[in-house]
Amino acid sequence: MDGIEDPMIRLSGVSKTYADGTPAVHELDLDVARGEMVTLVGPSGCGKSTTLKMINRLIEPTTGSIFIDGVDVTRVDPVKLRRGIGYVIQQVGLFPHQKIITNVMTVPLLYGESKATARSRARELMELVGLDPDQQSDRYPHQLSGGQRQRVGVARALAADPPVLLMDEPFGAVDPVVRGRLQEEFRRLQRDLGKTVVLVTHDIDEAVRMGDRVAVFADGGRLAQYDVPAAVLGAPADDFVADFVGSARGLRRLAVTPIDPTLLEPLDGVRASDLAAAIDVSATLEEALSVLMREDKPVIGVRRGAQFLGVLTPNGIHRALRASVNHSADA
Ligand SMILES: Nc1ncnc2c1ncn2[C@@H]1O[C@H](COP(=O)(O)OP(=O)(O)OP(=O)(O)O)[C@@H](O)[C@H]1O
Ligand SMILES: [Mg+2]
Repeated sequence: MDGIEDPMIRLSGVSKTYADGTPAVHELDLDVARGEMVTLVGPSGCGKSTTLKMINRLIEPTTGSIFIDGVDVTRVDPVKLRRGIGYVIQQVGLFPHQKIITNVMTVPLLYGESKATARSRARELMELVGLDPDQQSDRYPHQLSGGQRQRVGVARALAADPPVLLMDEPFGAVDPVVRGRLQEEFRRLQRDLGKTVVLVTHDIDEAVRMGDRVAVFADGGRLAQYDVPAAVLGAPADDFVADFVGSARGLRRLAVTPIDPTLLEPLDGVRASDLAAAIDVSATLEEALSVLMREDKPVIGVRRGAQFLGVLTPNGIHRALRASVNHSADA
């Protein structure tokens, strides 16, 4: 794998074999850029959680090295290290005998914030993740739904305002509808706050929807492919990845491939009655196609703000899908 310049997180030749001889992670090279969200995906037992826990030193690698912000993590006191990294564990891990608000305040209090400051910050964060602080603050974790508990976990991880967030299946316990909304909310939040995030999931849909890049793990902790979602779906590196991303990958690709403005055609000669309402160039191919189907028109206009850029046809959508894979293969 080609390393990137000045990554926020770098794993270099990292392997982990547990004491009983189980090989969990195999010679892993992985760079995560600043402000990037990387998803780790793969079947159960392929080493995703192990990888995450090595980044914040809950587990020590057998070989290899890990750097955060250029610093070898083995040279940092593990307790200090972990305070600087938000961590959402697979089973949420809230303190059962403490109120929700106290759970969220934990880290700021550890940092020596005043109670009043920590409390108002915790209320802000609860709102941010879609919890009502007036209603939920004084409840205990067992009085919340699984999905609400996961939101508390996310709020608590954000409370220390860490530049790096590690999240282990953070949306696993919520139903598909709520999960979709949480994914979207969190994605927007992550972009706004500029956090570097490594998110573990076993759900390929979540992986391609959330990740700027997706790392597909195979059994034995082997990294099978690491690339942008459009490339993982459109050009799987091997049979394992092709199988894992599944037969629906054609449709999934539409949702993760942006409109390519260089592939638009001119408006000349298009009859007004053939033209669907224009969409913004920041939309995905899926959004373009769904407008075409909804309006039952063969051509859709594409604009950037008020500026008209050109038109997209189903043929153009096909070419854009092909180009998205070629671009990332060239990169
Ligand atoms: N403490 C341990 N001792 C021995 N083997 C372990 C230990 N923890 C994990 N393993 C093994 O290491 C491998 C990787 O485990 P890991 O928890 O990283 O998988 P995962 O990809 O997170 O799986 P899941 O999707 O089920 O959460 C598995 O075979 C697991 O059984
Ligand atoms: Mg796991």
